[in-house]
Amino acid sequence: MDLFLDPGAGKPLTMQLYEQLRTAITGGRLLPGDQLVPSRQLAGELGVSRHTVTTVYGRLVAEGYAEGHAGGGSVVASASPGPPQGAGPAAALHPSPRFEGWSPYFRPPPYGCRFDLRPGLPDPSGFPAAHWSRRVGAAVAAEQAWYGDPAGKIRLRRAIVGWVARSRSVTADENTVVVTCGAQHAIDLVARVLLEPGDCVAVEDPGYVPAVRLFEALGARVVSVPVDDQGLVVDLLPPTARIAYVTPSHQYPLGMTMSMPRRRALLRWAERHDAAVIEDDYDTEFRYVDRPLEPLQALDANGRVVYVGSFSKTFSPSVRLGFAVVPRPLAEPIAALRQLIDWHPPIAMQTALASFINDGLLDKHIRRSRRIYAERHHILTEALSGSLSDHLAARASNAGLHVAAILKGGLCEKDVLQAAARHGIATSGLHDCFRTAPAQQGLLIGFGAVSTTGLPAALRTLGRILASQALNQAR
Ligand SMILES: Cc1ncc(COP(=O)(O)O)c(C=O)c1O
Repeated sequence: MDLFLDPGAGKPLTMQLYEQLRTAITGGRLLPGDQLVPSRQLAGELGVSRHTVTTVYGRLVAEGYAEGHAGGGSVVASASPGPPQGAGPAAALHPSPRFEGWSPYFRPPPYGCRFDLRPGLPDPSGFPAAHWSRRVGAAVAAEQAWYGDPAGKIRLRRAIVGWVARSRSVTADENTVVVTCGAQHAIDLVARVLLEPGDCVAVEDPGYVPAVRLFEALGARVVSVPVDDQGLVVDLLPPTARIAYVTPSHQYPLGMTMSMPRRRALLRWAERHDAAVIEDDYDTEFRYVDRPLEPLQALDANGRVVYVGSFSKTFSPSVRLGFAVVPRPLAEPIAALRQLIDWHPPIAMQTALASFINDGLLDKHIRRSRRIYAERHHILTEALSGSLSDHLAARASNAGLHVAAILKGGLCEKDVLQAAARHGIATSGLHDCFRTAPAQQGLLIGFGAVSTTGLPAALRTLGRILASQALNQAR
């Protein structure tokens, strides 16, 4: 860590050193348990007396920022106090109006959460850690420490080409696949190369909020289009939209599949209006009842569809890998843009994933996960049509890692979510997914991240919460 002491600054050196170390601790640059540089060494590096350093260390220990160790040396305290009031630079900078009031849409589950029923989360206990760590280890050992291809490692792109062809009938070649840090990042790159500021993007309503916010962040004019049981109502698409963003295989959040006539109508619309379609196929691998319909990408004869896929559900969201299959004219500009932003995802992760796919381990992992999720999906749908049906009306959904259910009897979504959190259940609401369509109050109940044995208990607890909310309401 760099420390800068300025004898001409008009402030004692002990104070300068103390403030810089305290800021490093409270700001997280030094973490609990980190060793402070031995006083003799730091004094030598900074050209100050050892007494100056030991005085500062003593003060940090006295104030609880550091702990002295019996064997000598000091470490950052495990629970150090926050920055003192008024410390730190003045808050002179503010985000542009577009970002005013924004905060992350997803956070780790609250402390004390017993059952994580949030949508879209895979089972962390099913992660094939041993296989994966062997492959990551080998990839790191073989890595050439150099920049890689901004479109993604060729081995991984080839592996993805084979995988999407056999699992989803998507037609791609290594030059039309771009490896990204997840589906969200793929949507970002594609939108950036397609849009001019102020261009119109059509989204499903209700829809996937992070994608909507992303388009807004890019300066697009976002127009909401209703969905019905067949998916996006194509007839209501604005003729000026440059992009229609859709989730045809499992509409987010409601869960229906876009019908074949709608798919064809959407492609005709795109052709007529010289527009692009972003097909977000985020969780298509987990289908439990019927067979998937052909993706838009495979039906598209005119090169208007960008197909976006993710390894967040099939594998792990923490690995942050996804991809886009893009019409050929977009591939090079996307790679160029990618290079300007962050060049490429870590090469070792890409190499490891390529061998994971090529060795058949991803297919095996998906087959195994599908069996497990199918059982949980069954448990949840049974509960929704049985014990939970007094208070929730489930939307039919044969795929993915969550089911949407509308709250009945005027139950308040916010109250239910808060009561659930108090009982150790983290789940999500439906209300915020609506933009202009009349918002419905409901729950998005995830079943990926809770164990098969824990799920019935979680649903029983949820049932009790709903019943008591209904009782409160009746009073
Ligand atoms: C509809 C939809 N699209 C995209 C994503 C994001 O996936 P990734 O983690 O690959 O960015 C999700 C994640 O839940 C999703 O629900």
